Amino acid sequence: MIPLIAANWKMHGRKDWTAKITELQDRLKGQRGLPEILICPPSIYLGVLGVEVKRKRISLGGQSCHFERDGAFTGDMSAEMYADMGADYILCGHSERRQYHDEGDSEVRDQCLAVWRAGLTAVVCIGETEGERASGNTTDILDRQLKGSLPEGINAENCVIAYEPVWAIGTGRTPTLKDIRQAHSHIRNRILKSHGRAAKGIRLLYGGSVKPANAADILALPDVDGALVGGASLEMDSFLKIIEAAPK
Ligand code: PGA
Repeated sequence: MIPLIAANWKMHGRKDWTAKITELQDRLKGQRGLPEILICPPSIYLGVLGVEVKRKRISLGGQSCHFERDGAFTGDMSAEMYADMGADYILCGHSERRQYHDEGDSEVRDQCLAVWRAGLTAVVCIGETEGERASGNTTDILDRQLKGSLPEGINAENCVIAYEPVWAIGTGRTPTLKDIRQAHSHIRNRILKSHGRAAKGIRLLYGGSVKPANAADILALPDVDGALVGGASLEMDSFLKIIEAAPK
């Protein structure tokens, strides 16, 4: 399985960040055995960055979408609009969307279906809060989110799952390698059980304070098929180091 290293720029960047993408492409030139690279910029910049991104080897993604195709939804963007601007992926249910925009599992599921309707791949984000982990509920929470957020019909082409413990996002703290391994193996077993063999090739990303210093260890774990990177994806130096840390 080719690993996926995804950058979630969140609400960072300006249109001149195309220079960062050019820099990344220049520095990747000639390298072999690279993972798939995905950049999810703020949607307003998708078009301008897309021209640069699309030139080669880098995929483009949205950070969220509305589940309707068109309509009176001020400020929203549909999956078809992302597809129109050249996106390949859309994040669904990132914890910041769940937290600040009240997106629950059923909405995430609807978004996922919208992403498929537009012919794109959904990156479905799940993860427990600090309190849920402290009370020993991590696996229950993951099960509930998987059950509620994933529609029937997931497969390796239309779905990627990102495990992002909420308490690890942007904090510089990560679970132990053993905890990450256990969570990923739990997620793999769970989706195999509920979705059958089609779930076998689905890539499971880890996200939450992935940095150049911890990337190689995390990416070498079984059932970790890539990373979703926030803060460390904003500088190409650190993002490149994470890309290079992916198993060949
Ligand atoms: P972080 O963010 O790498 O800054 O922790 C990850 C994410 O929110 O996807």
